[in-house]
Order: sequence, then C-alpha cells, then structure tokens
Amino acid sequence: MDVRELLVADAEVMLDRLATGTISRSPAVTSLDSSIYTDPEQFKRERDRIFRGLPLMLAASCEIPAPGDYKTMDVAGMPLLLARGKDGVVRSFLNACTHRGSKLAKDCGQAARFTCPYHAWTFALDGRLLGVAARREFGEVDADASALVEFPTTERAGLVWAILDPAAPPAFDAFLHGIDQLLAGFDFGSWTFFERHELPGANWKLAFDAHMDFYHLPVLHRATFGGQISNLAEYFYYGPHQRLGLVTTNEHVLEQDDLPSLAHRPKEEWPLDTLLFGEWIIFPNVSINCFYKGGRGVIISQIFPGETVGESVTVQLFLHERPPVGEQSAAAHEMSDFLRHVVGSEDLPMSRDQQQVFATGLLPHVQFGRNEGGLQQFHHWLDRFVQAPSGTPLDEIMAK
Ligand code: FES
Ligand SMILES: [Fe+2]
Repeated sequence: MDVRELLVADAEVMLDRLATGTISRSPAVTSLDSSIYTDPEQFKRERDRIFRGLPLMLAASCEIPAPGDYKTMDVAGMPLLLARGKDGVVRSFLNACTHRGSKLAKDCGQAARFTCPYHAWTFALDGRLLGVAARREFGEVDADASALVEFPTTERAGLVWAILDPAAPPAFDAFLHGIDQLLAGFDFGSWTFFERHELPGANWKLAFDAHMDFYHLPVLHRATFGGQISNLAEYFYYGPHQRLGLVTTNEHVLEQDDLPSLAHRPKEEWPLDTLLFGEWIIFPNVSINCFYKGGRGVIISQIFPGETVGESVTVQLFLHERPPVGEQSAAAHEMSDFLRHVVGSEDLPMSRDQQQVFATGLLPHVQFGRNEGGLQQFHHWLDRFVQAPSGTPLDEIMAK
C-alpha cells in the first residue's frame, strides 16, 4: 500500500464533496433489531468474540514512554497490566500474580519490577518470575510455568494493540488492514500524554454509534457545536476501520483540518497533517479526532463494555504533539473540558435514554440512513466477527 497515494486519493474525494456539498450515500436505508443493545446473550458473545478475540487499541505509547512505565486497566472484565520492558518493548499481561491471583499493580506508574502486595512474589517487567518469598519454606516452583499470563501485543504508529486471548495467533496485520500505516502519519510515538477522563454511559455500541454519526451534530450538540455545523459525513473504509470527513467549508468548532486550502496547491505539496483530516475509527471501539487548541492535539476515545449489557465506559485520552505550556496549557485544558462536557453531558445521557426505550421491547427496530453508511458498515462488521464460527482465523473472517 502506498500510504501517501491513498491519503491523496481520499483528499481528492473530499475536495470534490466540499465543492458540491454532497456525500456518497450508501445503497439503502437499513434496519437492525434494537435487541442488539439489550440482549445479555449478544453482549456475552461480543465480550468473547470482539473484546477477547480481536486486536484492541489499548494505549497510546506516550502513556508509557520509558522502560518501567506501566498502566493497568480493566477491559470487558479482564484486569490488564501493560508495561514497557527494559528492552523498550511493550507487553501486556493479565494483572494477576501466579501465586494466588492478587492484582500486581494499580493505576499507572514506574517500576523496576512488580512486587505482589499479597505475599511479595516478584516479577520482571517482561513477565518472568524473579523471586518467591521465603523460597526454601515455600518449596519447588516451576518458574517458567509461573511467569505472568501474557497476551499477544504489538506497538505500531505510537499506539499499542493487544489480543486478550493468550493463545490467539498474533494476526495484527490481517486485522489492522493498513490502518496502522495510515495513522503512522501522526507519529504519535513522539507525542506527549496530557490527560485522561472516564465517562459512564449505556450499552457500548450506543455510546460508540455516536462517534460514527455526524448526522446529530447540529441537533444534539446545538448548544455546544452550534446549529450551523454540517451534518454530512463522507465515509472512507479500510477493512472494518473507517474515517469520517465533515463536509463543510465553514469554520467549525473542531477545527479539524484545512482541506479547502489544498485545492490551490499541487498534490505533491499537500501537507501530511491536512491529508490526515477527519475522524479516524479503529474497529471495534476507538475514535481519534484532531484539534488545534493548545497546539496540535488529539482526543482518542475508547469505548469499553461495562459490567452489564446496558453499561459502558468511555475513556478519553488527550495527546499533544508538543507539551502545552503557559497559555497553550490553559487552552488545552479548555479543550479537554469542552470535550468531556460534550460527550458526558450530551452524547452519553442520550445513550441512556435510548437504552431505557429499547429495554421496554416496544421499539423492535432501529434505522440507519443512507447518510449513515459508516454505522451500517460498523454493525455489519461487528456481526461478521460475532457470527463467525469459534476458532475461525481472523484473516479468514476478514477475507470473506
Ligand atoms: S498472591 Fe501474589 S504472592 Fe501470593
Ligand atoms: Fe455527539
């Protein structure tokens, strides 16, 4: 894949849409059972097939930039420990001591090794068992078999992906379908981590649907984005992943890009920053939006299922190309507060309203318009992964 060629081709499509004020519409309006948002069995299948079967984008490299940096998280009920080893490699583990299952670490931080808070077994950053407390009295321990449970993990484009099944083949290439090569243009590996928010919501797909939907921008977000913002998305697809370009030549609150400026310049000079326009969607649960307040920054939103089918957690990670200082820092905080407000006070309350309605069982279907092709694609891919017979290799599911 020639990355620049692909980005230029997308930008050409986008310039045409901007000139005509149109979008490419999907072939038909589609409808889905609203039970996809409420059925506990469906939720269980998604947890097993999607969140414990597919590569998930779990962290930005700059959250754990140095050897010894670690981060813990809980993903679909799985306690995780991500750590950068002395060799600079990021690994992900079950956050569990192999003696008797205590969680090894909490929150995030820096460590030379992990010492279990229960009986003080110690583990290296690469998962090896280093020490058994009172080893002589304890007796024989098979060190190899007592290493931390490790998940297939890869770090690409300044982002960390892992598959939460220790036995899964590391089919990252097939699954990522080049999205990592496109995102590499941001060079997130050299960015800095700024802030993190966690926001509760309803079913994870209701929370995530809103990220692939520009149709609602001038309506639900009238008070924050303004009623003049465009509601037109041009969707670009890269396997199960996608990108949304906002079809507008007006200035808008997101200030994502300056695409119109490209029209007057030869293609060879189109700057990479501009070619990376729009909102990036990494299947199954991540969106990335650029902004220019407090310097160039992005919000990475990760939507994780909660404990029940009707709950989710949206994690907002804010990264900046350069550490914001002075006035820039105030502006960066203003932006992250604004986006917490938009999602926490407008999008997620909407998801809870929808959840309550679907729980009545009296609205059996939801509809996706020809202007919401990205949502149609998302649910189509989700279904494909959920329905594939257990054990089907990822590349086979992708190739169908
Ligand atoms: S559970 Fe970790 S040392 Fe006992
Ligand atoms: Fe929204």
